[in-house]
Amino acid sequence: MITEVKNSFTSSLLTVLRDRKSDGVSFRKAAEKLTSVLISKALSNLPVDSVVVDTPVESGVKADVLNVDIVFVPILRAGLLMLHPAISLYERGRIGFAGVYRNEETLEPNLYYFKVPVVKDAFYFILDPMLATGGTAACVIGKLLGLNVKPDRIKFVSLVSAPEGIEKLEAFSGVEIFTASIDRCLNDKGYIMPGLGDAGDRFCY
Ligand code: PRP
Repeated sequence: MITEVKNSFTSSLLTVLRDRKSDGVSFRKAAEKLTSVLISKALSNLPVDSVVVDTPVESGVKADVLNVDIVFVPILRAGLLMLHPAISLYERGRIGFAGVYRNEETLEPNLYYFKVPVVKDAFYFILDPMLATGGTAACVIGKLLGLNVKPDRIKFVSLVSAPEGIEKLEAFSGVEIFTASIDRCLNDKGYIMPGLGDAGDRFCY
């Protein structure tokens, strides 16, 4: 299942990300803001506990509290720029790391680091600005499934996504994707079109 969060605010942030003239600082700022919007959306359909509170003017008001465990898993390198906005929104979130780079020739993912806490019944939010072929995402999802995380507890949060990657993740029924844009396609080098270039390079610059 995919949710494309598209409105005038997200579109204008995407414009900054897409523009090759945007410098590293502008790129980071826009990516952080866009991540906040996407994480807010991903948080919005999680289960809540019912509580009763007293407001200053009325007692016994029924209210909701988001009381779930979440593990944020940024995929190195570029996913790191999404960690701060994510943890700022949900401060009790835990953190794991997955290091994956894509072979530039074969486009196959190479996992070089994986350290993710196992937390019973937690939701796992994978953070990566780009979903291109989907190989990297599938690799990390596969590792989480190997930890016995259920697919419906996994959210993949990306700034831009290609149809090819979205289709690949359909194999993981229950995994939800949140993205600000479903872009047109991949080019022959596996880059998202129109995309935003190499997010890792632009983030680290
Ligand atoms: C980019 C991006 C994703 C991956 C997407 O990372 O940040 O992790 O490629 O490609 P895929 O969907 O085809 O697998 P990259 O391999 O450039 O690593 P980096 O972040 O370390 O630069």
